[in-house]
Amino acid sequence: MRIRRAGLEDLPGVARVLVDTWRATYQGVVPEAFLEELSYEGQADRWARRLRDPTWPGRLFVAEAGEVVGFAAFGPDRASGFPGYTAELWAIYVLPTWQRKGLGRALFHEGARLLQAEGYERMLVWVLKENSQGRGFYEHLGGVLLGEREIELGGAKLWEVAYGFDLGEQKW
Ligand code: ACO
Repeated sequence: MRIRRAGLEDLPGVARVLVDTWRATYQGVVPEAFLEELSYEGQADRWARRLRDPTWPGRLFVAEAGEVVGFAAFGPDRASGFPGYTAELWAIYVLPTWQRKGLGRALFHEGARLLQAEGYERMLVWVLKENSQGRGFYEHLGGVLLGEREIELGGAKLWEVAYGFDLGEQKW
């Protein structure tokens, strides 16, 4: 098992992890039609456009175990309004069969360490309120509940909660 920065050749694997893990995690939470419309090709194209764009501010990591089995994307905070939280974990997904084996923690660790080295002091993450799996993970890593917001996804109104992390504490 290895955590490393992603290259263009990893994007089919990233897309597979995203689509499969979204469908497994958000069944019954996110509208069914939205989950059905996700496609490996569509997601691979989306990530390729980002990675090829020199102005894209993200950092994409993959967890590799023979093939890509997890990924995480980090970057600047997308205007959340929480003072001091200038960095954000945008997405972190590990294939269901590979969960609870330490890959999520390892991905989180790599990204948070890089952001800290770049001078960021605090990072936040938004997670669907109903996603008890994701919330349990962030709480276990020491995330502090900051607030909540309503979003629209696939025509449904859903609540998200934000957790904050002090990158200097390195509880993770
Ligand atoms: N509740 C409590 N503790 C948890 C939970 C949980 N639900 N999940 C993991 N942990 C603990 C583990 O026991 C472990 O503890 P330890 O290291 O002290 O022994 C620690 O957290 C790290 O666990 P990992 O095994 O590294 O976690 P995993 O590889 O399963 O990755 C993740 C966590 C990313 C949440 C994964 O389970 C996943 O992909 N879930 C579905 C998708 C998801 O919810 N993604 C986050 C959405 S929000 C966003 O992307 C911004």
